[in-house]
Amino acid sequence: MSEPELRTLLCELAASLFARGYSVGSAGNISVRLEDGVLMTPTNSSLGRLDPARLSRLDAEWRHVGGDAPSKEVFLHRAVLRARPEAGAVVHLHSTHATAVACLAQPGEDAPIPPLTPYFVMRVGRHLPVIPYYRPGDAAMEPAVHAAAREARALLLANHGPVVSGKTLLDAVNAAEELEEAARLALMLRGLPARELTPAQRDDLLATFG
Ligand code: 13P
Repeated sequence: MSEPELRTLLCELAASLFARGYSVGSAGNISVRLEDGVLMTPTNSSLGRLDPARLSRLDAEWRHVGGDAPSKEVFLHRAVLRARPEAGAVVHLHSTHATAVACLAQPGEDAPIPPLTPYFVMRVGRHLPVIPYYRPGDAAMEPAVHAAAREARALLLANHGPVVSGKTLLDAVNAAEELEEAARLALMLRGLPARELTPAQRDDLLATFG
């Protein structure tokens, strides 16, 4: 996909997430890898009102080279994209239910959402590590995020929200939506005897759908 196409797609997908309540105010940020750098949502911008021409452009060394100033979460996105060479995009949201789980789960937990549905397993995978709390934009989170992202497509920042990677921008957005729905289901079913997918069913899903 060309850079102009990616700029347009990023703004369309972000607006769709905003319109459906996956982000509010100026929360959330998105990055997508280019051949020679990264496109990123500008800091303090609303996902609902992005301008393709003003997206932040970073070079291959993550230096700001164009557009508005990048998200303060540049270290978060850099940690995930460096840890996962196969990932093409990262979506960070403060979506309500995944953030609620990020407030309930203990840092260090690896699977705070049970495998209830196939699409959660297919899009998010086996691991959803919970990273200790850091102030938003704190560069100190980078090593912890990098280490966790090597083993997991998605993670939760304690008391803050989900971070989801994908092979493509669309994959990352789809996985972020699936994670939010899985968190909602998990909270809805908390304390009830819900049936989880068995290890064999999970293995089958991952073997079939990757
Ligand atoms: P930015 O506005 O800098 O992208 O930060 C928003 C956010 O979601 C912080 O976690």
